[in-house]
Amino acid sequence: MPTPANGQHLAERLEELYRRHLLAGEEGVASYYESGRGYYKPELAAEERDRFSICIVRTRGDVYQTGDHDRPFALQSISKVFVYGLALADHGRDYVLEHVGVEPSGDAFNSIVFDERNNRPHNPMVNAGALVTTELVRGKDPVERFERLLDSLRIYAGNESLAIDEETFEAEMRTADRNRATAYLMRSNGMIPGDVESILALYLRQCSVQVTCRDLAVMAATLANGGVNPMTGERALPLHHVREVLSVMHTCGMYDAAGQWAFDVGVPAKSGVSGGIMAVVPGKGGIAVFSPGLDAYGNSVRGIRVCREISERLGLHVFATEAEDALLGPI
Ligand code: DON
Repeated sequence: MPTPANGQHLAERLEELYRRHLLAGEEGVASYYESGRGYYKPELAAEERDRFSICIVRTRGDVYQTGDHDRPFALQSISKVFVYGLALADHGRDYVLEHVGVEPSGDAFNSIVFDERNNRPHNPMVNAGALVTTELVRGKDPVERFERLLDSLRIYAGNESLAIDEETFEAEMRTADRNRATAYLMRSNGMIPGDVESILALYLRQCSVQVTCRDLAVMAATLANGGVNPMTGERALPLHHVREVLSVMHTCGMYDAAGQWAFDVGVPAKSGVSGGIMAVVPGKGGIAVFSPGLDAYGNSVRGIRVCREISERLGLHVFATEAEDALLGPI
């Protein structure tokens, strides 16, 4: 049985975990990702190879961080979680459900597949679903919609200076053919109304918002804390929507590796191709890992290894017994 956690214990464990995983080899890395450069093979990776950070923020507000925790990276698909929350807050659960489902697709994040029975994307964590939830964000024009979206991200992170990385945004726009095709097809099927180009730009803007590993862990801790940022006390999401967001993260957040993740790690999570993973331990805290080496599913290889180990060693799995649960308990 793990020993109960205290702050010093946790900081030491994190440091040890960081050092060990920093040295781990590249097996399982199918590609690296860098803004402006896109995906490239492991043998071409330069300094990205060693970029690595881990951060844990407990719901009572204490922070544990190691590695490059202040290095910014784009949220990419992790933004889908928060924008889904905003769509739920703007329209309510039933309306959002009519337009985007909550079933895992079992397909890659950028697959052009839909829930044909219900004429909607499978879930808001894949690109097709995220295009819908982005479209649902209220605002009189694209500028206001993006401002609302960015404000919401800032409240989750407790960081007023979150902003877009223009280089990432431009690179995303240059390489958006697949998302564009998905969006046009959805419009022709009646899944999204409105101007495809402006929805696409809004979606890629949200993907291009930069965070640090620490920001991401605070965002995760906000979800773990019932939607209230544990550092600022500000509410980011009404409580009744937090459960809906976490449920979809749990079943769909890691794309077509979501089942394996639920089996191994057992907490709601979301990844992005920039190499970030955010995991939420409800009532206890948030975990964020950043490392840009990706597996064939587009998930961070080190991120998965680290989260799996933290979960195993500290009894975080949703089906762990109380006796196994040592790290993030309310002590
Ligand atoms: O839509 C895209 O292609 C990217 N901008 C975001 C993809 C992403 O992060 C998926 N993650 N694993």
